[in-house]
Amino acid sequence: MEAGRGYAKRALALMLIEARRAGLTFVYVTARPDNVASHAVIRANGGRLVERFQEPAAYGGSESLRFRIDLKVEAALIALRPARPEDLAFCRRVKDDTMRWIITEFGWDDRGQAERFASQWQPDETRIITYAGNDVGWLQTRPVDDAVFLAGIYLDTPFHGRGIGTQVMQIVIDEARRDGEAVTLGVVKINPARRLYERLGFRTTGEDEYKFYMRREADAMPRGADEPRALGS
Ligand SMILES: CC(C)(COP(=O)(O)OP(=O)(O)OC[C@H]1O[C@@H](n2cnc3c(N)ncnc32)[C@H](O)[C@@H]1OP(=O)(O)O)[C@@H](O)C(=O)NCCC(=O)NCCS
Repeated sequence: MEAGRGYAKRALALMLIEARRAGLTFVYVTARPDNVASHAVIRANGGRLVERFQEPAAYGGSESLRFRIDLKVEAALIALRPARPEDLAFCRRVKDDTMRWIITEFGWDDRGQAERFASQWQPDETRIITYAGNDVGWLQTRPVDDAVFLAGIYLDTPFHGRGIGTQVMQIVIDEARRDGEAVTLGVVKINPARRLYERLGFRTTGEDEYKFYMRREADAMPRGADEPRALGS
């Protein structure tokens, strides 16, 4: 291939389009540390270096760099399906992986977590979040008084921060709004998820030592939606 013409950059871009169509949300690309031309091509396609590693002996055993390229998430590929009892292990694993840091941060004793989880997790209140047909997370909701209570929402770690949570929250809000109902939840004070809830129009209604309790009225506006906009924007 002729060097310096951008063919490699375009070729990788085309591969990424295929990967996205296939339902992937990110890809890893590896390159030798001295192959600066490849690094430039990968970075030009949004790649960021995640690690330096030793290739397995079967692949040459030399040192290599791993880049991650995040692909735009397709809202149309996000769906919810009812949970089945056999989804318990997946749900427990995702919650463990994503919430362990909070348990560690507070120095909580996590003995008995498995039993507690099994008693709190109710398949008939739970839906599995899928992306392109693959299970990527779950949420649990139940009716309380005049609201839908979101008992939990958890996405598997590789899928964080790509807009999937926002889309799923919007589905929950829209479902509740159709019945004229608010959505309520509790969030651990140090959990950055609070920012997401605030952006979607949730307001803090109470707190205890560890958690804020939040509520989004059926007619609430997402933050910023009611702010004056400059003419022409
Ligand atoms: C909370 C969660 C469902 C949001 O879904 P998402 O697809 O990551 O969120 P989006 O990309 O749509 O929106 C980004 C927002 O999500 C939140 N978020 C992103 N990564 C997060 C993480 N690892 N932990 C908690 N919240 C996170 C932040 O509020 C972020 O806003 P910011 O960019 O201003 O920081 C998801 O990050 C998650 O499963 N986190 C771990 C489990 C958890 O904390 N669940 C909430 C319990 S109340």
